[in-house]
Amino acid sequence: MTHHLRFLVVTYPAQGHINPALQFAKRLAGTGADVTFVTTHSAHCKMANGSPPTSPNGVSISHAPFFDGYEDGFKPGDDVVHYLSELRRRGSKAISDLVVSAASEGRPYTCLVYTLLLPWAALAAEELGLPSILLWIQPATVFDIYYYYFHGYGDIITENSTKDPSSEESRTTLPGLPWKFTLRDLPSFMDAANTYSFAIPLFKEQFEIFDLKIKNPKILINTFDELEPEALKAIRELKMIGIGPLIPSAFLDEKDSSDTSFGGDLFLRSKDEDQNYIEWLNSKPEGSVVYVSFGSIAVLSRIQMEEIGKGLLDSGRPFLWVIREKAKKDDGEVEKLSCQEELEKVGKIVPWCCQVEVLSNSSLGCFVTHCGWNSTLESLVCGVPVVAFPQWTDQGTNAKLIEDVWGTGVRVRPDEEGMVGSEEIKRCLEIVMQGNGLMRSNAKKWKDLAREAAKDGGSSDRNLKEFVADVARGDHHIFLD
Ligand code: UDX
Repeated sequence: MTHHLRFLVVTYPAQGHINPALQFAKRLAGTGADVTFVTTHSAHCKMANGSPPTSPNGVSISHAPFFDGYEDGFKPGDDVVHYLSELRRRGSKAISDLVVSAASEGRPYTCLVYTLLLPWAALAAEELGLPSILLWIQPATVFDIYYYYFHGYGDIITENSTKDPSSEESRTTLPGLPWKFTLRDLPSFMDAANTYSFAIPLFKEQFEIFDLKIKNPKILINTFDELEPEALKAIRELKMIGIGPLIPSAFLDEKDSSDTSFGGDLFLRSKDEDQNYIEWLNSKPEGSVVYVSFGSIAVLSRIQMEEIGKGLLDSGRPFLWVIREKAKKDDGEVEKLSCQEELEKVGKIVPWCCQVEVLSNSSLGCFVTHCGWNSTLESLVCGVPVVAFPQWTDQGTNAKLIEDVWGTGVRVRPDEEGMVGSEEIKRCLEIVMQGNGLMRSNAKKWKDLAREAAKDGGSSDRNLKEFVADVARGDHHIFLD
């Protein structure tokens, strides 16, 4: 029994981080451990109904949100450096306070689990002598690429990225990974031309913690052994543990049909917004609908949106399109797409939806996705082939895996200005919807394997139990002096 185990699960306050972290918290609670879920106050308030989720065996997770200094959380236009430093300062203090007060009440925490961009959480734990472990919420392959970037391959990657992308010399190979990566396949932060380089120092600090502070570090990864067998073993110095896919049970192993909630909707929609999309999907023939969504962060340019709209119209298929941000004119009125009326005749545009529920609907035929890791895993778990339309961060690598390794989708080819035209979108949709069926059968294969991994006795289930047993023995994290 593991009742005495107490975990703190700390996550960055973004939808793509909260969703898998919350699922992981539920899995931990399902083993009988106590779990406290920590994120910022603003994110917490917006999470599903504000009510604490319950784990499969009825053990509840407690929440201990902290204030990051931003009433509504980070918003586009805010100073990211200032935000991250406030998050670090206030987050570290919140962790210390929680750990100290739990110890003084005689209920000390056993281990801290933290997601990406929060190396300071590991440092705060270390100060208090509390073991910690990173929950990596992107694929193992991306972890490997960052690892090698900071361990001898940074200059090679930078140099290769300046070469003609169509040339063989621009392709980078990394130890243990059987593929070659061109610039578009690497995390966007590694591109010297990328303006969003704020993440690199945080990743660097994270890898320094592994190198200098922990003996034989272990890392939990939101993937599964069968999906990334090479990548999970590509680094000798670290042990990577596949415990995914972190998707609500109702859509994965069906152990708990009431477990449908993800991390809630950080964009809190008003009740009058269209909730009838499931009924609409139910009215469509099996495998006929194109679902389009770019996750919770990316905002596409107006011109790109127009091209997508035209591509969808030209392909003539019913579609469900999530458009989160409504462009506003100077007078504050919502600016519609030029073909909005025609679009609304064949498809449905919504500001948000329950994506796993949509992907699980039998009417789904194809997912046009930005390839965020959660969306990618959800497409695999639901067996839906994709048009891969990556934007930034890990998404280019994820798109490569989808197209070249798992064979579940086709990647769009942007033009010289980086724009993906309507013709190209239509071309990709035709390949997925009318191709030889290989992508669909690959998608079905991965759907079955993902479910196998998650069920009792499956690889991820075993890996999680082994990790919890390690924690109970106290040998999952050994501090270096
Ligand atoms: C971010 C990064 O951009 C991504 O690359 C990284 O891998 C994780 O963190 P995000 O861009 O939001 O995430 O994409 P994604 O990882 O796909 O996560 C979005 C989540 O929001 C998914 O779980 C998806 O199911 C959910 N979602 C999205 C909805 O529930 N409804 C929607 O309408 C859109």
